Amino acid sequence: MNPGIIYLDNAATTFPKPDGALDRMIESYRKKGVSPGRGSYDLAFEAEDIVYDVRSRLAKLFNNPDLKRIVFTSNATDSINIVLQGMLNRGDHVVSTRLEHNSVLRPLYHLRKKGIITYDLAGFDQKGFIDPDDISRLIRDNTRLVLINHVSNALGTIQPIKETGRICAEKGVPLVIDAAQSAGVIPVNMQDWNVSAVAFTGHKSLLGPTGTGGLAVSPDLVIEPSRFGGTGIDSENLLHNETYPHRLEAGTINLIGIMGLSEGLKYIEKTGIEAIHKQEMRLFIKLREGLSNLETVDYYCAEGSENHAALLSVNINGMDPGDAGSILDADYNIAVRSGLHCAPLVHEVIKTYPRGTVRFSIGPFNTVEHIEKAIEAMAAIDRFNRG
Ligand SMILES: Cc1ncc(COP(=O)(O)O)c(C=O)c1O
Repeated sequence: MNPGIIYLDNAATTFPKPDGALDRMIESYRKKGVSPGRGSYDLAFEAEDIVYDVRSRLAKLFNNPDLKRIVFTSNATDSINIVLQGMLNRGDHVVSTRLEHNSVLRPLYHLRKKGIITYDLAGFDQKGFIDPDDISRLIRDNTRLVLINHVSNALGTIQPIKETGRICAEKGVPLVIDAAQSAGVIPVNMQDWNVSAVAFTGHKSLLGPTGTGGLAVSPDLVIEPSRFGGTGIDSENLLHNETYPHRLEAGTINLIGIMGLSEGLKYIEKTGIEAIHKQEMRLFIKLREGLSNLETVDYYCAEGSENHAALLSVNINGMDPGDAGSILDADYNIAVRSGLHCAPLVHEVIKTYPRGTVRFSIGPFNTVEHIEKAIEAMAAIDRFNRG
């Protein structure tokens, strides 16, 4: 690791992971790295126990009553594709939003281009929030699914999922959320919010390694399998196993990744989601206040800190965000993300398309000193920019 790096790109992936987590992951894999649930020997059962334990902790985290309906995938993108492939048929309609990441926009566009579905996207207001009534107005007789972002990875705003869930439940349309940015740092409550499925990734706020993620599916949602193969059970049957989690998991699962996810979860369970969010928001507020004093720096959709995650999108007047990101890296050893953040439609709305923004995203291991250094660096760029 670059020793002096100030890492403020936690919305891309959290870095570093909790102290010792990766060592413990490797140790666990060294001792129990066999095919879970596939063998009749003790070690295979022990490996399966670890997988079972992580499913059950994730079910608790999302308040999903059935731990078997926690399906492991490679990331949130994979989970979203599984939902769309497994639920949509010719003639179906989907409601989504302009806040979405390309992991939602591209599969939807692909299905529309093939003539299979149609979709409508709800807008968002000046503060970066969707209006659940807009979702309601867009629902039609053939709407099969509402698929929306929980926390915007470009703006940091937390969307009104509970209210949207109530509307979806009244209309009898399943609500699926993209919790890539929220899982592990913002509460997700499937039962209270009438959420039918949660697509999550393991390597962001769940503090696990890349290559992990999953889908939490409510007991009443039907998703057809779109991938078929070995499940370790019922092998004489050519029909893919229809029971969860096998229904949506084909092939050997990512055991080492799940062991790493277990370590990430341990940190979250010990520290508490609210405490992690609160600590990140303290730094977010400090950063926003520091940057708000700079004449040529503007930020987007971050006036308040209520319903906000610790992510701040900014621009420096007249400067390409890519250049600003490179200066922060080269001159100050600060890692941020510049550009569209895979959410192009957000930038059309906030008028930062096509160059995007500079995004600072705070993680659980950032410190006050990191934020002070970021403010100093931005102040120096601002001075230079003013001439
Ligand atoms: C809001 C949102 N959705 C989906 C994704 C995709 O996550 P992954 O790349 O882990 O599949 C991301 C990743 O940046 C994201 O921020």
